Amino acid sequence: MSLPNLQIALDNTTLSDAISSILKVGDEVDIVEAGTILCLAEGMEAVRCLRAIYPDKIILADTKCADAGATVGKNCADAGADWMTVICSATIPTMKAALKEVKDLQVELYGDWTFDHARQWKEAGLTQVVYHQSRDALLSGLTWSESDLDKIKQLVEMGFKVSVTGGLEVETLKLFEGIDVYTFIAGRSIRDAADPKQAAREFKAEIERIWG
Ligand code: 5RP
Repeated sequence: MSLPNLQIALDNTTLSDAISSILKVGDEVDIVEAGTILCLAEGMEAVRCLRAIYPDKIILADTKCADAGATVGKNCADAGADWMTVICSATIPTMKAALKEVKDLQVELYGDWTFDHARQWKEAGLTQVVYHQSRDALLSGLTWSESDLDKIKQLVEMGFKVSVTGGLEVETLKLFEGIDVYTFIAGRSIRDAADPKQAAREFKAEIERIWG
């Protein structure tokens, strides 16, 4: 089992705030994400700035693209993103078109996807999925369940690199012990911490303790 990566999600609502966040923790994380909220608020300029700050880090544009895969993918790649996301309800042609433009593509799992869909994503050449507890689901009282863990395991068994996200805290990581998680994606629990650098280090230490 390999050591899961740590990805910071920059869901800041302004670019200046996102830059302020990333300058505190960028050196501690493996992957820098221009979050959906940031992309919607500031567009691809956010990705351009992150690329300028971190020429060598993996940068992901969390576009959750639903259509126009080629255009959105080209915009992300031109701005300097290595990876982008598509929503799981996008069509296979949208996913394939986006995949041609970027180095890698992640399918964001929300709502009513099925393992039959997952097989189609594999056949289309996709290798990464993001298992997501939505903010709104968490706010309505849902939490990580055995059913979530079983689905994550099944996706790993199918050969996907599975990233996990949604309100993650350091204490949540142990729930995934024994599962070959590719990346843990954390946003608020790092960005909003009193000491974001220390918070990122605590995530890393917990990952090392469980998977190292
Ligand atoms: C929201 C997202 C977030 O980037 C992801 O859920 C991580 O954020 P947080 O840890 O704050 O929940 O994709 O759509």
